[in-house]
Amino acid sequence: MRVYVLNGPNLGRLGTRQVDVYGLTSYADLVTMCVDTGRELGLDVVVRQTDAEHELLGWLHEAADEGAAVVLNPAAWSHYSIAVRDACALLRAPLVEVHISNIHAREEFRHHSVVSAVATGVICGLGVDGYRLALRHLAARPAPEAPDRSA
Ligand code: DQA
Repeated sequence: MRVYVLNGPNLGRLGTRQVDVYGLTSYADLVTMCVDTGRELGLDVVVRQTDAEHELLGWLHEAADEGAAVVLNPAAWSHYSIAVRDACALLRAPLVEVHISNIHAREEFRHHSVVSAVATGVICGLGVDGYRLALRHLAARPAPEAPDRSA
C-alpha cells in the first residue's frame, strides 16, 4: 500500500531550525526514518517536502486520484490555508495530520489547524516519532473493502 508523507514549508530545515522546538533530527534523517518504518510495516512510503503551496496541492490531488493514504505535516499552512484544507477534503483514504511540536502549548495563532476537521486523526507534540506512529496506525487499519461489482 502506497502512503504519502507530505511536509509543508520550512520542514526541509529540520535539524538546524529551532532545535529546542523541533529537535535535532534532520529532514534527511526523517525521510530515512519514514521509509525504513514503512519497509518494516509493508508500506510503500513516499516522502516529500515543499515550500510552494501549489506543489503540495498537486501532491494531495495525486493522492486523492490514487486513493492513497496521507501523513501530512502542513506546517504553517495548518493555521490558515483553506486551499490545503480543501485539497485534504478530496482524499478518499485516511489522512493523519502530524505536528512535531505541541501546537497547543505554543503561541495562540498555532492553536487552531484548519486541516484538523478534515483529518482522520491528529498527532502532535511527540516529536518526529509522530510520523512513525501515524504510519503504524495506517498499516494496522483494516484493508479497504473491495467494491461490490456483483450487480
Ligand atoms: C509544525 C507546527 C507549525 O505551527 C509550524 O508552523 C511548523 C511546524 C510542527 O511540526 O510542529 O512549521 O507543524
